[in-house]
Amino acid sequence: MAGWFIEVVDLYKRYRDGVTVGPISLSAGRGQIYGFVGPNGSGKTTTIRCMLGLQRPSGGHVSIAGLDPTTQPKELMRMVGYSQELPSFPPFLTGRDVVRVAAELKGLSGEELRREVARVLDLTGIVSHANRKVGGYSKGMLQRLSVAQALVGDPEILILDEPMLGVDPAARFQMREIFLELRRSGKTILFSTHELLELERVADRVGVIYRGKVAVEGDVGELLSQGPRVIRVEAEVMRPQLVNPALLESLEGVSRVSIEGSIIRVEFDGVDGREALSEALVRSGAGLLRLETVNKTLEELFMEVVRRHAGG
Ligand SMILES: Nc1ncnc2c1ncn2[C@@H]1O[C@H](COP(=O)(O)OP(=O)(O)O)[C@@H](O)[C@H]1O
Ligand SMILES: [Mg+2]
Repeated sequence: MAGWFIEVVDLYKRYRDGVTVGPISLSAGRGQIYGFVGPNGSGKTTTIRCMLGLQRPSGGHVSIAGLDPTTQPKELMRMVGYSQELPSFPPFLTGRDVVRVAAELKGLSGEELRREVARVLDLTGIVSHANRKVGGYSKGMLQRLSVAQALVGDPEILILDEPMLGVDPAARFQMREIFLELRRSGKTILFSTHELLELERVADRVGVIYRGKVAVEGDVGELLSQGPRVIRVEAEVMRPQLVNPALLESLEGVSRVSIEGSIIRVEFDGVDGREALSEALVRSGAGLLRLETVNKTLEELFMEVVRRHAGG
């Protein structure tokens, strides 16, 4: 399809020992956050390195902002901020030194360089550790430093290989906020992760890679609404003893009802019976406190993929 900002078509890499990654196809629109997710060893790093021209693919085609990494790697790298997985920086440098080197490589100097270094150190939350030698950094700190140097120069595209690896929960939250802020300013981000949870609430599109192949790809919203239309609803009531399960089961489309303490779970199959349910609960006098739709999660989607592959 035309119009993709990042497009990978049938990319594959055959390693000398017979391991093959791919064929991988994926595509992201401009201004999107793309989550590339799959277990360790599934081929994310190989794909990303081939996408950036850091590794030579055995076949297939990549186009990023109209550039081909095999023939235009330099032009491409000028547009892209890249954070590698498990970065190794000279241990005697401080965090600030590492970012400063990245800024120099981007052609910055003087006051402009100083300001840009301060900006990304602050943004990634490592400013308080910036004067420490990176040899003493934790895994998570190194990963954040790697993201910091990728952000130098405010590149149009960010390609981040496992940016949240080893990063503690608070910093992960912060990282997601950074991604959302970057998206608001029009940047395109592709990041890999082996933890599905990291995609929730940030990714617009996902590609699930499994054993070297893309098993599922698409817009998060579309993927999650696929399959039989089951609507799962969770309600909380004040007086559960007043709820009549048989009555709920008789509502149109209801396929399951369960009551656990004050929580009532109802599944509708092919029918959106949420209004009828809330009316029934209100009329019962049980005191409806809350009613919400529990959507399919990415986790479930991922497990479906794994099951499908394990079975077939
Ligand atoms: N340089 C290499 N030489 C041989 N095999 C490799 C090399 N790099 C990666 N592989 C193999 O390719 C597969 C995918 O690895 P990788 O791309 O690192 O996956 P991921 O990033 O998803 O963990 C694995 O089986 C890995 O062992
Ligand atoms: Mg990897």
